[in-house]
Amino acid sequence: STEQDYQGKHVLLTAGPTHEPIDPVRFIGNHSTGKMGIALANEFARRGAEVTLILGPSSLRPREEVKVLPVMTAEEMLRVAEDNIGEADIAIFAAAVADYRPLHSSDEKLKREEKGDLQLELVRNPDIAATLGSWKRPNQYFVGFALESNAGFEEAKRKMAQKNLNAIVLNSLLDKGAGFSYETNKVTLFDREGGIEAYELKSKEAVARDIVDFIARRIAL
Ligand code: C5P
Repeated sequence: STEQDYQGKHVLLTAGPTHEPIDPVRFIGNHSTGKMGIALANEFARRGAEVTLILGPSSLRPREEVKVLPVMTAEEMLRVAEDNIGEADIAIFAAAVADYRPLHSSDEKLKREEKGDLQLELVRNPDIAATLGSWKRPNQYFVGFALESNAGFEEAKRKMAQKNLNAIVLNSLLDKGAGFSYETNKVTLFDREGGIEAYELKSKEAVARDIVDFIARRIAL
């Protein structure tokens, strides 16, 4: 379709993994590809929104109307998100942020010890969604993701409240074909008003349409 229902809206998204350096050649990271967040960025842009995508290390890129701000670490992602959240009407937190980072990262490649093991001290990374959520203005609409290994309804709702999000997208890891490195996803959407919508397994592009439609109904576009 050619509907331009998001014309005039600013959308900020985080997507992809973060890489937390151990030394110049090693990092702590995860298998996120950024595909779901990029599909969302594309769908908002297609429908007329002004879209900024804060993207962790990923080989994928969105369509060219989307402004990409590449980042490496969680701390960088937070800084760039803080700088850009002011003008956002809608924010989507789709990044798979590393929960921890090495306390020290070496400027030189670490050498293997002759014998024995290496201990890494890890510190907690900032929660980007929760940090920005705590400053959310009443006219801003924030959406997060929850990836749970069980049904996860209660956990998803708890995260929505704790991060002050308006809505949350639950991916159950129990569903075959859903989540990291798959082309497909199966989601349930919850909002603060008690709304619940469960969808079938579909392509990430089709899931992005469902999520963008869900938000359009909530913000009454
Ligand atoms: O707490 P949990 O990691 O399960 O929450 C997932 C949601 O929080 C996602 O929307 C994710 O992008 C966001 N998040 C974040 N910063 C973190 C951890 C998670 O923005 N450090």
